[in-house]
Amino acid sequence: MHSSWRCRSAQQSPLLLLTVTIAGAMGMAIPTAAQQNGGRQRLSLDAGWRFRAIPVAALDQTTSISDWTWTPASDNEIGDVSKLDESKHPWQPATLGQDVFHNQPGYAWFRTTLPALTGKGRTLHFRGVDDNAVVFLNGKRLASHEGWDEPFDVSLDSAWDSASPNNVLVLVRNTGGGGYIWDGVTLGKYRAAQTDGDLSQPRYDDSHWRTVNVPHDYVIEQPFTEKIDPQHASLPTPSAWYRKTIVIPNKDRNRDYWLDFDGIYRDPQIYVNGKRVGGRRSGYLPIHIDLSSLAKPGERLTIAVHVDPSKFEGWWYEGGGIYRHAWLTSVDRLHIEPDGVWVAPKAVGSEANPDSATVETSVALKNSGAGSQVYTVVERVLSPGGKMVASLRTNSSEPIGAGARAISKVRIPLPHPLLWSLETPNLYKLETSLEIAGHQVDRVVTTFGVRTVRFDPNKGFFLNGKSIKIKGVCNHQDFAGIGVALPDNLQSWRVKKMQAMGANAWRMSHNPPNNELLDACDRLGVLVLDENRHLGDTYVPHTYAENTTADDLTDLDDMIVRDRNHPSIFAWSLCNEEPLQGTDTGAELFKKMIAHVRRLDPSRLVTCAMNASWGKGVSLVEDIQGCNYLNESFENFHKAFPNQPMLFTESSSAVSDRGVYENDSARGYVGNYTDFSLEWLNWVRRTEDAWKPIAENDYLSGAFVWTGFDYKGEPSPYGWPNISSHFGILDMCGFPKDVYYYYKANWGDAPVVHITPHWTWPGREGKPISVIVFSNEPTVDLSLNGVSLGRKACPRNGHAEWSVVYGPGTLTAKAYDARGQLAATDETVTAGKPYKIVLRTDLTKLSANGEDESVIEAAIVDENGKFVPLASTKLEFTISGDAGLIAGTGNGDPNDHTPDASNERSAFHGRAVAIIRSTGTRGEVRITAQGADLQPASTTIGFDY
Ligand code: GAL
Repeated sequence: MHSSWRCRSAQQSPLLLLTVTIAGAMGMAIPTAAQQNGGRQRLSLDAGWRFRAIPVAALDQTTSISDWTWTPASDNEIGDVSKLDESKHPWQPATLGQDVFHNQPGYAWFRTTLPALTGKGRTLHFRGVDDNAVVFLNGKRLASHEGWDEPFDVSLDSAWDSASPNNVLVLVRNTGGGGYIWDGVTLGKYRAAQTDGDLSQPRYDDSHWRTVNVPHDYVIEQPFTEKIDPQHASLPTPSAWYRKTIVIPNKDRNRDYWLDFDGIYRDPQIYVNGKRVGGRRSGYLPIHIDLSSLAKPGERLTIAVHVDPSKFEGWWYEGGGIYRHAWLTSVDRLHIEPDGVWVAPKAVGSEANPDSATVETSVALKNSGAGSQVYTVVERVLSPGGKMVASLRTNSSEPIGAGARAISKVRIPLPHPLLWSLETPNLYKLETSLEIAGHQVDRVVTTFGVRTVRFDPNKGFFLNGKSIKIKGVCNHQDFAGIGVALPDNLQSWRVKKMQAMGANAWRMSHNPPNNELLDACDRLGVLVLDENRHLGDTYVPHTYAENTTADDLTDLDDMIVRDRNHPSIFAWSLCNEEPLQGTDTGAELFKKMIAHVRRLDPSRLVTCAMNASWGKGVSLVEDIQGCNYLNESFENFHKAFPNQPMLFTESSSAVSDRGVYENDSARGYVGNYTDFSLEWLNWVRRTEDAWKPIAENDYLSGAFVWTGFDYKGEPSPYGWPNISSHFGILDMCGFPKDVYYYYKANWGDAPVVHITPHWTWPGREGKPISVIVFSNEPTVDLSLNGVSLGRKACPRNGHAEWSVVYGPGTLTAKAYDARGQLAATDETVTAGKPYKIVLRTDLTKLSANGEDESVIEAAIVDENGKFVPLASTKLEFTISGDAGLIAGTGNGDPNDHTPDASNERSAFHGRAVAIIRSTGTRGEVRITAQGADLQPASTTIGFDY
């Protein structure tokens, strides 16, 4: 037994889970049922929060400041600005948003003169400076800002001269890539957001606020706005408050209370009865608050949460709000700590068929009571079928003192374990009970799996001794219509979509995910690369890379402790494309991170996703070489470092929009042939070029494609009007782009043949159209209206290609196996006019839990039921029945600025989705879609358990 333990925040699988639906500020009584035996109570706090967004502080009397000149800065001026003699510099006109550094690191001065502006509150707003800026007015240093893509304000009053011109100088530092002041500098007078009192205080009356359930993303509810950074989806990021009142039951004496949030984006400040009780800068890790000193029997507790999503952690859409679950847990004074059970099973014997496993458990306990206690830890292992297969009682060797912590460690033998694998993801449960004199005071259930993972530098990755090529997808968190606030059932649905394509792995890029996504991967048999993106301390601005330290690795530690029981996680990724990746300093930081990982989880290897400098810096200390792109370098690396396993952490991207076949830079669309002709995104590799060598070289453990699903933000290669990415294999709604079938053919086992493009090209009659066919069968015959256009070989991991003179009709591809037998057929038919809507969903039976969601897919077909790929009719979705509501809609169009929460959505290339959410009431709902000149369609879903 040890007597100290550092408390960590997070969730443990609950045994008892009671969900109470309550009215916002009215207060919620915590049920006392099942507490007689001292058991743990874990209550969902998801329902009934009062919510209010605080409008972003506005600038009045604005003038755009676009007239700038620039000059390179010399070394002596950088250290001492007084050395700057402006007259000695060759100033040149600067176009905002254009690189003046020619992609080289360095410093430059930018200057401008501001027009007159009377009155206090004068402010210069920068949409961003890439990378860092120091701002001077009339020679006085006013502000410095770090971070290449964040807007910031500089208050001018303290140096403003009302009598003379006001001269602004900005020292811009570029650490890599391009460097500039972003277009969008504005002078104005700051008008602070008005609030009507202190919103953290219990007496504040929030009855006029909206009531929402969490998970909730309110940034997705904002209007798309051209001037706002497209990397984050051109959405305003106001701050907001959530409030909720709960009541501690009178009977509950001698218990501890915990308030837990699984994730809040971002920088939440949490108050209980007006007192700040906690916060966390990371938007991706849980917040654990011990409320015991405030939670007295009969007490009303008003929880107020302030969130501020205006500071980003990444370069993609990150949402805003309490977008993961919230919990209140009540435990006996003697209890298992949050995330206190660590299960580390080790198989003994053959990798493929171990005789037994040793389940090493470590249980962290705390006694927050007044007296010392002797206790017993009882552990039971339940098989995947639910049978008890092992158990062990451990009496405390010494009493646990008042306020003390202890760790109980045991080894439980588990004969003939059923292994967790991709085909049979067997999951065991460890029930850990804490008893005092035979009386159970706490109980926690932890899911685990027994499996072995091995990387061989020459042969790749092995799971349970079986060679497995990692066929992975990177993904961000958001989905059409709902932003980052995904219900648990859609997490599983998204994983299944990827599995249906043949994917067997998911990279949590670039942040720790929801617990439920990890649970889904455990349950469904999908490997996970869990990720902490920052090299070193998370909050030391890593744009000043050389200043990075590794003194506070709390975020990394918390991710490992929260996630290490998941069998799906095969390795940890500790950073992605960090500026110091190829340096000695980077290696030193990484070593410190490795030391944390080895202490908290010695069972897994680590990697860093590196897009440069393989063989240097972090490469020299990581276990697995994580490779982002640079596909031309892997052979040399393997030759030079033959003992280091290799994994493509990012291999290639689809870079296309569903249903589009021509690049249109003016409107911001990328065609589906792009994968074969992509020139301008020089870091992105083509699907086939990237995957073929990975498939063919055993030493490459596999790859993660960037990305499985499109996501909001990062619209490379374009900016506005694009508000979402083009990288996904599936679009924002989960509809496949053509490249999906490349993966389905080459990652999956079932026979596949797919024709690109569709065959509805009015006006193109008589002109040649390039036809690309993906198949995993060796030969494909393509025919138009029954006339063969020739049989062609379709090489493994490749494609077959025809040039076909367009004429309406039916284009058919027949794929033949090695014996010459017909194995698969695809057909695309010239469609007539849009005639009716067809609705479908595979989510027809959901829980009436107030959270589950169904994705209703709408397609527009012609009179003969043939899909119309050019249809763009606006669809209106309506719902009848109390059990569901329309949470949002989407269509995969990166240019659609209709708010996600709208119930109207134009079809994009014939398709759209509506997201239907449970209201908490049981029953059926009927969803109807209608559009001008179209036969409407309806479908029914049930929220029934
Ligand atoms: C990678 C990066 C990803 C994404 C991708 C787009 O360099 O790790 O987050 O930005 O590029 O191609």
